[in-house]
Amino acid sequence: MKHFLSLSDLSSEELHQLLELAVRLKKEWQAGGNQPILRGKALALLFQKPSLRTRVSFEMGMVHLGGHALMLSPEEVKMGSRETPADVARVLSGYVQGIMARVFDHQHVVELAEYASVPVINGLSDDAHPAQALADLLTILEHKGKLEGVRVAYVGDGNNVTRSLLHGAMLTGMHMAIASPAGYTLTEEDWDTAESLRTHGASFEIYQDPTAAVAEADIIYTDVWTSMGQENERAQRLAVFPPYQVNQTLLRHAKPSCLVMHCLPAHRGEEITDDVADSPQSIVFPQAANRLHAQKAILAQLL
Ligand code: CP
Ligand code: NVA
Repeated sequence: MKHFLSLSDLSSEELHQLLELAVRLKKEWQAGGNQPILRGKALALLFQKPSLRTRVSFEMGMVHLGGHALMLSPEEVKMGSRETPADVARVLSGYVQGIMARVFDHQHVVELAEYASVPVINGLSDDAHPAQALADLLTILEHKGKLEGVRVAYVGDGNNVTRSLLHGAMLTGMHMAIASPAGYTLTEEDWDTAESLRTHGASFEIYQDPTAAVAEADIIYTDVWTSMGQENERAQRLAVFPPYQVNQTLLRHAKPSCLVMHCLPAHRGEEITDDVADSPQSIVFPQAANRLHAQKAILAQLL
């Protein structure tokens, strides 16, 4: 594994190794601190979109492992307009030992990886959010004690977060039910990819009815209805998505032991209500905290 652009590039074994590494680094950190295995190394954090979790978890991950992180805001680099991703990749490769990039067009991380001589990590593109999915799998593993056989229902927009979670679920033997409105689900190509990644025990189902999707779920997962870059579609989306809100009524259709996840930031009152996000069934904050440990595993593995 040279770069980390999409979980669909990983084998099931590579993904399990990353998860084991995350578990080990988390234990080590909780026991007093990590070994400075990245001493003298620097990671560029290149952002075309805003971030809280991704920025802070990668930066603190580098600090905990003895290295440095360098924040590069959209305004200063202007990748794609001031300079091409290919040029940015070759220039940064002369200064830092890794590049984490958050972009609109997924092709930008692909191009960075093609031209960089250092590892490139996708910190979210319009297509995928693999670093999030790794933290999500770690969180499910901690709360359910296993991944194989766990049933996740994703309710809402079929987006970057859905796609990466589906890849992760298929590589780890989980069952994933996805309920999205017509026109807002993943593509035929995504179902083919999911099929090709399916390991022992893994399966997925596609629904339009959210109550049917959550019936047997151990985990209900949701994300915003309007992702970054889709702001001009907001009114149109708000008209379509309300039946997909994760609220107490939907939770009554699920098992009482069902846990609720959200990658955050949440648009509270839209895809998730406060009384669900802040309920004892919600694990959204342990999930956010696990970004730190999952991101450290990626850094330790690649850098
Ligand atoms: N979940 C996530 O990636 O959060 P940020 O957009 O704040 O980084
Ligand atoms: N789907 C969301 C995820 C944010 C972490 C977005 O792309 O804006």
